Amino acid sequence: MAIIAVFNQKGGVGKTTTTLNVSASLGMLGRNPLAIDLDPQSHLTLACGIGQLPADKSIVEYYRNNKPLQELIQHSPRDLRVIGAHPELAKVDALYGKSASVTGKLKEGLEAGLAWDEAPVLIDCSPMLGVLSLNAVFAADRVLIPVSADFLSMQGVYRLDAALRVLEKPLKRKIEKKIVLTRFDTRRKLAFEVYDKLKQQYGDDVCDARIHENVSLAESPSRGKDIFEFASHSRGAQDYGALTMELLQKGFFE
Ligand SMILES: Nc1ncnc2c1ncn2[C@@H]1O[C@H](COP(=O)(O)OP(=O)(O)O)[C@@H](O)[C@H]1O
Ligand SMILES: [Mg+2]
Repeated sequence: MAIIAVFNQKGGVGKTTTTLNVSASLGMLGRNPLAIDLDPQSHLTLACGIGQLPADKSIVEYYRNNKPLQELIQHSPRDLRVIGAHPELAKVDALYGKSASVTGKLKEGLEAGLAWDEAPVLIDCSPMLGVLSLNAVFAADRVLIPVSADFLSMQGVYRLDAALRVLEKPLKRKIEKKIVLTRFDTRRKLAFEVYDKLKQQYGDDVCDARIHENVSLAESPSRGKDIFEFASHSRGAQDYGALTMELLQKGFFE
């Protein structure tokens, strides 16, 4: 079971889009992934077609009442396995504060209930380095960082990288990461500059596959569909297919 946190403290960079479409692509390849929505905004739960869940059928029930994670798995209309979120998840911070035990809670639940499961787990994080995202990073073997191809997002990567390095100490291990450029607009010189700069700094940690700005990717969440179902011939489908193949080839899901 490879556990991947899809994280960036910036909003709107494509975390949810990436979690959904890489999961869908892995699903089409027969890898039966599990996607976990760890964002109170519940965008992944909505975008995959499950729709708004009651809190007690979402991951909130694991944090509130220790309901085993495997009992919270939902199946999307496309048969993607998803543990959904609910706005009440925002209260986890308030419930537990920053006590040391809560940062390890998701890891504990995954090990207890899903250790036998060989399929990859992808965790869609909220855009804050709070208790929830710490849960994801502590549980994860690796972090996938979507970065939109603009100047401020690039600055955000440096800060995020520094924060991950700080976390390596309590975790007592290196946090392996891959950076994927999203919302790449080939008409903008800046997009290529951002890619080159990140490549210089992070080398092989930057994926060769880039996700271009694509209207089908913007439209598909409102239909509750992944890009392969919504527009299988779109640039977005090609890009997410290529990204998934690259990550598989690099052993990211092993
Ligand atoms: N490559 C893309 N092209 C066009 N729109 C995109 C692309 N990636 C994401 N979007 C849209 O941008 C918005 C933010 O993306 P989202 O994945 O929700 O970001 P995050 O989870 O990081 O906040 C969504 O409306 C989404 O549909
Ligand atoms: Mg999101």
